[in-house]
Amino acid sequence: MSAISLNKIYSGKVRDLYAVDDKRMLMVASDRLSAFDVILDDPIPGKGEILTQISNFWFDKLAHIMPNHFTGDSVYDVLPREEAAALEKRAVVAKKLEPVKVEAIVRGYLAGSGWKDYQKTGTVCGIKLPEGMQEAQQLPEVIFTPSTKAEVGDHDENISFEQCEAIIGKELAAEVREKAIRLYTEAAEYARSRGIIVCDTKFEFGLDENGTLTLMDEVLTPDSSRFWPADQYRVGTNPPSFDKQFVRDWLEQSGWNKQAPAPRVPADVVAKTVEKYQEALDLLAGA
Ligand SMILES: Nc1ncnc2c1ncn2[C@@H]1O[C@H](COP(=O)(O)OP(=O)(O)OP(=O)(O)O)[C@@H](O)[C@H]1O
Ligand SMILES: [Mg+2]
Repeated sequence: MSAISLNKIYSGKVRDLYAVDDKRMLMVASDRLSAFDVILDDPIPGKGEILTQISNFWFDKLAHIMPNHFTGDSVYDVLPREEAAALEKRAVVAKKLEPVKVEAIVRGYLAGSGWKDYQKTGTVCGIKLPEGMQEAQQLPEVIFTPSTKAEVGDHDENISFEQCEAIIGKELAAEVREKAIRLYTEAAEYARSRGIIVCDTKFEFGLDENGTLTLMDEVLTPDSSRFWPADQYRVGTNPPSFDKQFVRDWLEQSGWNKQAPAPRVPADVVAKTVEKYQEALDLLAGA
């Protein structure tokens, strides 16, 4: 990626953050892909741009529900013209917020760690579910299943709503749950009309300088969500998804032991993965 004349303040698995001033930062989505918590050596060309376009679409569409982290500045306001032109599709100017210390996960269907927990305990994050549910089945109602924000190198852990209250306070926990469920419900209904089932998703929130709860990070992308093509959905099976499943499947069959470094991913698997991300963007935001 091209050079950026701002100070880097954080490098996540996928995004890099740069300081603009005390209150604002530039968030740049790279083409890195992490699978099984290891960052692959091979970038997925264009992935960062596609992810940013999907997020921007949702931030805009859901803006009436709550405030988001955008400052209203464009990248051209904070970067020299040439740098801005190179990054405009993958970067945004955001308010630097104080992160709320839980991951706000919402589930409409039973999959992933929710399905695993349910099989063991009949509950997900302490929420009792009806008996006899199948993998990928739609839940009787949308549920809020928070998890901890793990330190670097650790895995996030599902927690009960009571544990969530203990971490961030009762009042904030109630507001986070209410907002997360509203965002998911409205987005899932829209996505369904575009042929995508949003099985589950993770939102991140922060507090602004007035303590107002604000939506931040990325919203409803294939990296933060499980998207299923509606026409291939069947209860009782794990549907193919728009997320990094392509790469994950390939890695699984490669015999890799899931310790870094990951094997080099063949070009056709990389190409197919870009195609999947692009397909999600086209379906959601296309005319
Ligand atoms: N407006 C914001 N204010 C402060 N932090 C933000 C804001 N938007 C996003 N972030 C944080 O920026 C980082 C984005 O980087 P990335 O998603 O690559 O991180 P990550 O590898 O998922 O790591 P992490 O475990 O820290 O989320 C995340 O830590 C996210 O919480
Ligand atoms: Mg992240």
